[in-house]
Amino acid sequence: MNTVINVIVENTTPASPLIGEYGFSAQLLIDNHNILFDTGSDSALFLNSAAMGIDLSLVDEIVISHGHYDHTGAVLSFLKRFGGRQIYAHSGIFPRRLISRAGGQIIDIGCKFGYQEAIDTGAEFVFTDTFTEIHPGVYLTGQIPRLTDYEDVGGDFVFEKDGQLHKDLLPDDMAMLVDHPEGLIIISGCSHSGMVNTLEYCRQKTGRSKVLAYIGGTHLMNASQARLEKTIEAINMYQVQKLIVGHCTGFYAAAELFKQLGRQRVIKMDAGLKYIF
Ligand SMILES: [Fe+2]
Ligand SMILES: [Fe+2]
Repeated sequence: MNTVINVIVENTTPASPLIGEYGFSAQLLIDNHNILFDTGSDSALFLNSAAMGIDLSLVDEIVISHGHYDHTGAVLSFLKRFGGRQIYAHSGIFPRRLISRAGGQIIDIGCKFGYQEAIDTGAEFVFTDTFTEIHPGVYLTGQIPRLTDYEDVGGDFVFEKDGQLHKDLLPDDMAMLVDHPEGLIIISGCSHSGMVNTLEYCRQKTGRSKVLAYIGGTHLMNASQARLEKTIEAINMYQVQKLIVGHCTGFYAAAELFKQLGRQRVIKMDAGLKYIF
């Protein structure tokens, strides 16, 4: 099972003319499937894919990891440019989502497109609220059970319903996994469910305990040292060979992972990088 992962959007990039943009987007070429996983927050998807020689018109389908703006920001412009596609997502990506910043300012961080706007371009939704095989050996987790007592969603997120604000536990957060002969490849947007919960659910559903690579955002930017230690223990227990982390991982968490797990296993994810498994 040949798997190529091109990171198109990430907060940082090592080289011009690629640009860094807060968010995440990767193209996955798995056998003959061309999948766009998330789209970043704005227009880096288009600038960077052109610079990387990636023809986005060849993308067959889109996967949305969760309904935050930094993963959904270019969905509508993509659909308007290239036409409707099948979109895999949890049905709970659309609520109005907010976060309060220092100084009391409340900003909108929800999904950057509406259901009907996408449908109007010819897009079709496939809601994967539970574990689903979308191609042979390629799965979406759907909602991930929260089992650990030391992981949280990584911020004071709220959503608005009927004029009221409610705590947002990001039930729509899901990961994609490839059942590669050498181990699972897990791609996550932000890991709001918790990296360890995500690893555990992937193990439970596939029966495989070896992870070839965990790629994406891990939302450890606000994690305590205790949570980091437990996460590192779990990374060893699940035999994660490569940890390709960026976006909402945060510098200090990435540095701790690098220090404790070493440069053979921990790689800083950047826009423009390609991984072949
Ligand atoms: Fe994010
Ligand atoms: Fe997020």
